[in-house]
Amino acid sequence: MSIAIKTQDEIEKMRVAGKLAAQVLQMIEPHVKAGVTTAELDQICADFTAENNALSAPLNYGADQNGEGGFPKSICTSVNHVVCHGIPSAHILQDGDIVNIDITVKISLDDDTTAEQDRTYFHGDTSKMFLIGDVSPENRRLCRITQESLYAAIKKVKPGNTFADIGATIQKYIKKAGRYGIVKDFCGHGIGSVFHEEPQILHYKNADNRKMQPGMIFTIEPMINLGKGGTVLDKDDGWTAYTVDGKNSAQWEHTILVTNTGCEILTLRDDEKGIQRIMHN
Ligand code: MF3
Ligand code: CO
Ligand code: CO
Repeated sequence: MSIAIKTQDEIEKMRVAGKLAAQVLQMIEPHVKAGVTTAELDQICADFTAENNALSAPLNYGADQNGEGGFPKSICTSVNHVVCHGIPSAHILQDGDIVNIDITVKISLDDDTTAEQDRTYFHGDTSKMFLIGDVSPENRRLCRITQESLYAAIKKVKPGNTFADIGATIQKYIKKAGRYGIVKDFCGHGIGSVFHEEPQILHYKNADNRKMQPGMIFTIEPMINLGKGGTVLDKDDGWTAYTVDGKNSAQWEHTILVTNTGCEILTLRDDEKGIQRIMHN
């Protein structure tokens, strides 16, 4: 199987999708505080996305032919020992919590006369950690080093480097930071008019020696645990992934375009001071 090289037109549309996903994270920020439920955050994000003429990609994602078993909400909210794919609920955020909010929007930029079945949607996928009130130094450090590992990996994105360089960089960075667990059960992914497409982006040492090429678009989304890297799925909902030992987990995600000289972060937010949108790596 091969990795898509996006056309200039597709790249333009992915810029729009990525920007909107980043805007959802910026918009939700003042709402993410102690006392709010994750279901309230879901509703606010879903409304904002709809107002911007886009759809929330997680809603019903993965449903079977009978329309059952799909993800039931519009965003993922993963609190404390939830690694990823947490389902927004009546759960109230508490002082000291850390929570990942993962946004994927899909937007059609076809003209108004295009019939629904003829539309092509483009995805923007990004997540960040929010710290609720007084977070322990241990948890703050977990969130920080996870974001730094993402940035270290982004700095390796350029034509000629391999996908293995991404995983090796993250593993090296995390190992240097201390005794953390890297999650291996979930990975980053190619993205475009399909939410999850080739390649899989592994966040640990691996042998994917395929070279990055200009026009490829994929996510990098490391999940790092305070304890072991293992995960367990919730038996009842089939989605929520917990750490195997109940210790906390952090994740940050960006959607990245490979350019001629490095990369462009399609989902960069205004609050990101430590990194440039366009990188000459
Ligand atoms: N946004 C997640 C990712 O980074 C996927 C969420 S799929 C869902 O790939 F169904 F769980 F929402
Ligand atoms: Co993703
Ligand atoms: Co995501």
